[in-house]
Amino acid sequence: MDILWMIILALIAILVLKTVLVSVIFYCEIKSAQKRDPAAKSFLEIVLLYQGLHALVVYRLAHRLYRMRLYLPARYLSQVARFFTGIEIHPGAKIGRGLFIDHGMGVVIGETAVIGENVLLYQGVTLGGTGLAHEKRHPTIGNNVVIGAGAKVLGNIIVGDNSYIGANAVVIKDVPVNSTVVGVPGRVTKQDGKKIDVALDHSHVLDPIMQNIEELQKRIDKIENK
Ligand SMILES: CC(C)(COP(=O)(O)OP(=O)(O)OC[C@H]1O[C@@H](n2cnc3c(N)ncnc32)[C@H](O)[C@@H]1OP(=O)(O)O)[C@@H](O)C(=O)NCCC(=O)NCCS
Repeated sequence: MDILWMIILALIAILVLKTVLVSVIFYCEIKSAQKRDPAAKSFLEIVLLYQGLHALVVYRLAHRLYRMRLYLPARYLSQVARFFTGIEIHPGAKIGRGLFIDHGMGVVIGETAVIGENVLLYQGVTLGGTGLAHEKRHPTIGNNVVIGAGAKVLGNIIVGDNSYIGANAVVIKDVPVNSTVVGVPGRVTKQDGKKIDVALDHSHVLDPIMQNIEELQKRIDKIENK
């Protein structure tokens, strides 16, 4: 009986120690989650229950192994994390401080992806590659970027600081700083807080077919409202 109690106490001590360590090392990430998720009720809730944080903890270990060229154990760790969290972060990716992955299920971050500071990713986001070459083939995400649920950001492109990618957008071209991008393919609809009229703006022409459709739709609306 004594031994059983000792084992239980040891397990509790390990859990407490682990919680304290994660709280200290990942303080920035936990604070970022607390700030950006109104559903988060406490610091401890995030440490114990947020799979986005758990995936990040494992990623930091896996990334160290990857940098030591221990590719197989690094990949093994990331697959274990994927199994438990539904979030797949390749150990080769480079991730800055303060990343918050909300909900997380279905997030994929590719090997050569680079993520800046204080980025927010929702569930189903893919930072994916478009080619098979062994070169940088995944996006670079700037600081303070928010990427909405289900959005795909593909190829070696740059998403500028402070930008928003709308839910389910498919982004295949560079995004300027302070912009909002929505749709498939992604189009800039706002920049520096100002709405962009896609039909008039020629510096942001990303999809001429879509522009024509929108123009036609406006004319149909006009005729119907007569
Ligand atoms: C794009 C987004 C950031 C909003 O940006 P915003 O600057 O506030 O944009 P607005 O709401 O003013 O909308 C601007 C235009 O884009 C359209 N729009 C907004 N989000 C869109 C989206 N995801 N896909 C397509 N169009 C979208 C709006 O209908 C509006 O069109 P209009 O100008 O023809 O009326 C936001 O809509 C979004 O998608 N956020 C992601 C949130 C998310 O994934 N949450 C998951 C929680 S679990």
